[in-house]
Order: sequence, then structure tokens, then C-alpha cells
Amino acid sequence: MTLLAVETSCDETSAAVIRDGRVLSNIVSSQIRLHAEYGGVVPELATREHLRHWLPVTQAALRAASVTPAHLEAVAATQGPGLPNALMVGFKAAQALAFALRKPFLGIHHHEAHLYSPWISGDPPAADFAAFEPNVSLIVSGGHTMLVHVRAELDHQILGSTLDDAAGECFDKIARLIGLPYPGGPELDHLAAEGNPAAHDFPRPLLRELNDDFSFAGLKTSVRYFLQKNPALLEDGHHLRDLCASVQAAIVETLVTKTLRAARRLGVRCVTASGGVTANRSLRAELAAACAREQLTLRLAANTLCADNAAMVGILAERKLRHNVPATEGDAEIEPRWALS
Ligand code: KG4
Ligand code: ZN
Repeated sequence: MTLLAVETSCDETSAAVIRDGRVLSNIVSSQIRLHAEYGGVVPELATREHLRHWLPVTQAALRAASVTPAHLEAVAATQGPGLPNALMVGFKAAQALAFALRKPFLGIHHHEAHLYSPWISGDPPAADFAAFEPNVSLIVSGGHTMLVHVRAELDHQILGSTLDDAAGECFDKIARLIGLPYPGGPELDHLAAEGNPAAHDFPRPLLRELNDDFSFAGLKTSVRYFLQKNPALLEDGHHLRDLCASVQAAIVETLVTKTLRAARRLGVRCVTASGGVTANRSLRAELAAACAREQLTLRLAANTLCADNAAMVGILAERKLRHNVPATEGDAEIEPRWALS
């Protein structure tokens, strides 16, 4: 099956062509530089950029896959959750295209797309659902942090999620306190690589609680007070790197410990992770080390598929159609606050 997928839920305009589980093309136009000036995503600007870019990005994806609209057998788009007007651009455009082509249309849940993205690997990327095994999955992005029990393909249950800030948001807010540009996660990762993670002992929120929820707002506050008491630390590159490494260690230890604990409790032999923060090198390394210790299989979203992209949306949509999930109604609307169920 040849399928076109579109993703516009936040600040990436993306289109991908999928054929029989293979990613033929995956074009991503990121707005990060535009929003950086404002220190975060500005919804109106995001919408304007999606309106400007969805057609050229879609044309580029079709061209890169050597596919014309006439070849398409289905169309998919992110239906939610996300910024309402941003979602609307890609969802309505894709829905209209499916209508014009008289092909099935599928609205996809953004987090569900992240959830299955670790099963896409290789170059060119392809889905490897033949290797699927029940797993505990960590989804970590700028807006969400959650642990999910994936019992079987397309059968999952949320175990816990963040009570306040998401892990990515925590990275970004602390990076901002330190004076790093938006989005701070990658910058902090970069500086932390040369710092000492044991230099400062920041709180590991909810680490000792035997639930699967997260809370990162307290960590951010604790770093803010720490910086108020020790402003000179920001003046010195060496101290700054130690600070970044210590903050990162607190976030990573919390994520890894809770993920592994859930896997142990549920008796799964596989752990997966996806979302923007999965690009963090320390998180990747610590998850790998912990899974190796406990002889668990680890599947991390490929570096190119951690951030938002249409390939993961298309792979999931094709999989759903193969599993006879009914197409989305022609008059369906976006679901900006859609909860993963
Ligand atoms: O999944 P994503 O691209 O967008 C959302 O759906 O939110 O995630 C973006 C988040 C941002 O908070 C960004 O700072 C964080 O992922 N991020 C990182 C790294 N790369 C991206 N955080 C820590 N280390 C990184 N290397
Ligand atoms: Zn995302």
C-alpha cells in the first residue's frame, strides 16, 4: 500500500510517503529557528508557517518518493493532540486530498505515532513489526512525558504521565535559566557531555514513589534557587558544564529508573523510548546500560525520528489499515486535547 502522511501538530511541517512498511520519503520543515526568537512556540506563527509550507513539503515528499497523487491508496494526518490551528492545517488538507482522490483517510493520534516509532529502523527506514514484543514504552517530548504498557500491537495502556512539566519542558526551562537559547534541551545535552554529573545533587522527583507518574516542576524550582544562591556559577564555563551535567543526570536517572521499574513489575522483556528528548545522548546511554544489566531488549527511536515527523504517522496509519481499523469519518474534526487511551 502507498500512503501519504502529514504532520502539523506543533512546530514541524512534515510529509512522508510510506509503501508496505517502508519510508520512501520523510520531509520535515522545522520552525525552531523562527520560534527561538520568542523563547518558545508561538501558535499563530506556527499556523502561518504550516499554511505556507504544507503544500511544498507534501510535493517534495511525493517527488522524493517518485510518487504522484494518483499512486496514493490512502492518506493520513495527525488529528491530535496539539496546537488547534496548527493541527487544522495538515488535517484538513490531508482529509480534502483523500476526498478528492476517493481514498481512505486516517486521523492519527500523535503520541500513538511516537509510541510505535521505535519499531522503525534502518536506512532507508522501514517498520520491523515482525520483531514486535510486549514492552514498556517511555514517550518523552517537549509537551509530554508518559509511560505506556504496550501489550500487543495497537493494544496499549497508559501507566503514568507527568503531573506538571514534561521532561523536555524541564530541559528547556532550566536551559533558559542558565541563559541557553531555545530549545535548550540539545544545548544542555551538549554542555553536559563535558561536565561532572555528580557535581551537584538535584532532586529526583517522585523517584521513590511506587507509581509511574513524573513531576519535573520541583527540579526546575530547585535549580532556580540554587542559581540565585550561586550566581557566579554561570560566569564560568567549567562550572556551567558541571551544572548542566548534574541537571541532566537528575532528569535521566528519574526517567530510566521509573521506566525499568515498570518493565520489571509488568514482566516485559522489552523497553522502547521515543519523542524529542530521546535524542538526549545520556538518556540513550543510560537506558542502554540499564537494559543490558537486566537483559532487556531496548528499542530507541532513531535519532532522525525522535522529533516530530510524518514518517511515524504514516507507518502507524498503514499498520492500522492493515489491521482493518476503520477509516476516519469524512466529516471528522481535529482533536487538540485527545487523550491516548
Ligand atoms: O517531540 P518533540 O520534537 O516535540 C514535541 O512534541 O514536544 O520534543 C521537543 C523537545 C524539546 O523540549 C527539546 O528541548 C527536547 O525535545 N530535546 C532534547 C534533546 N533534543 C531535543 N532534550 C534533551 N536533550 C536533547 N538532545
Ligand atoms: Zn511529538
